[in-house]
Amino acid sequence: MNNPSSPSPDGAMGKAAAARGLWSSRLAFILAATGSAVGLGNIWKFPYITGENGGGAFVLVYLLCIAAVGLPIMMAEVLIGRRGGLSPVNSMRAITRHEGLKPAWSWVAAIGVLAGFLILSFYSVIGGWAISYVGTAATGQLAGQSAESIGAIFSGLLGDPVKLLMWHTLFMALVMIVVARGVRSGLERAVSILMPALFVLLLIVVGYAMTTGHFGEAASFLFQPDFSKLTTSGVLVALGHAFFTLSLGMGIMMAYGSYLPKNISIAKTSVAVSLMDTVVALLAGLAIFPIVFANGLEPGAGPGLIFQTLPLAFGQMPMGSLFGTLFFVLLIFAAWTSGISLLEPLVEWLEEQKGMNRTLSTLGAGIACWLLGIASILSLNLWSDVAPLGMFAMFEGKTIFDLLDFLTANILLPLGGLLVAVFVGWFLSRPSLEEELSMSPAVFTAWYRVLRYFTPIAVAIVFIYNLV
Ligand code: TRP
Repeated sequence: MNNPSSPSPDGAMGKAAAARGLWSSRLAFILAATGSAVGLGNIWKFPYITGENGGGAFVLVYLLCIAAVGLPIMMAEVLIGRRGGLSPVNSMRAITRHEGLKPAWSWVAAIGVLAGFLILSFYSVIGGWAISYVGTAATGQLAGQSAESIGAIFSGLLGDPVKLLMWHTLFMALVMIVVARGVRSGLERAVSILMPALFVLLLIVVGYAMTTGHFGEAASFLFQPDFSKLTTSGVLVALGHAFFTLSLGMGIMMAYGSYLPKNISIAKTSVAVSLMDTVVALLAGLAIFPIVFANGLEPGAGPGLIFQTLPLAFGQMPMGSLFGTLFFVLLIFAAWTSGISLLEPLVEWLEEQKGMNRTLSTLGAGIACWLLGIASILSLNLWSDVAPLGMFAMFEGKTIFDLLDFLTANILLPLGGLLVAVFVGWFLSRPSLEEELSMSPAVFTAWYRVLRYFTPIAVAIVFIYNLV
């Protein structure tokens, strides 16, 4: 696979990658990376944070963050993974050894492992909400309901810790089963069928949303920037979400990139993944906001937004119970493929570092994550007044669930991404990068400059602004 005389990866790195098997094609990598990227972040989180942050201006900043921060970092992560050919932590190690850098850089990937673990703990709880709504839709409970009774169904779910625990347990079990068997088998095929299906269903809901008579209002809410509504914390949320939605900053793209064949363009595949992810998020927005405005709901309703709007649409459209059931099933699959990618780096790390076998490391990591998830569940009901870091102005009124979301998406992921940008932009040798990316010189230079200067400075400024 590697030309022995090439200055690129040494033998050990090359052989390890070959032994782990490569993606069957470029498409397979795109599918797996898209499966990780497209998830609750696109359909659940993007609409609600857009609603909370006033719409258009926030969306514009978010799109800028995807293009000018997310995409260059995704390329950097995939590059590290493909060059290292190992799990994220060990790829970083192998590269530092190869380039004569400090091994401490591998801590970047370790931060990522921690972030993935923390995210999955509450991600699984939201995945559980989606599971619960399959039953609600399938049994026809949504048909013809008013906005109030749909709202009551949602608050009923949040107020029931036992139900939440049941669905959270089921979601974690689904994730653990796939991770324990090894991520590659089945993942490619599942994603290649389910992602297009989710896309079609979203289009159906958008089609319905067009009939509500409030589509234009929703479109201008999403795409007409009103900068008076944009706050500095909104900019931080947009930046953090760019990392969250593209699955960046925790090494998963390194992990998947380690399976990418050498002859495939990192830039093109990264652009494809980012584009698909963005299209799904925007479609979710176009599906949800017409329903919000048509029913006089509050755009800033928070994390329950999609669970209070989409069910209304399914309750009103023809064959709504069927479409509703299908939609939530597909949402579960989208969340599932993302959940898998949140657990995978930790499991790989336990295997390589602690010498545990795959089953045992999956069990250990999964159960720990499940336990932490219980704290998020309780913060939705019994502990809804508990704000552990409430004494700091920044965390005022944030429950455990809010705090985990904030710390991971808005702090750990951007920090991980910043370090990746600095590592690749300032520490790896330029010839290695040129060789790995093999792009036209002009495009390479543009990417390199953005990664060296723009990305780190932008992330740093947003951080500093929000701390002071
Ligand atoms: N991107 C996923 C979503 O939008 C969530 C996710 C999966 C993620 N893997 C990740 C976020 C790794 C950050 C890092 O739902």
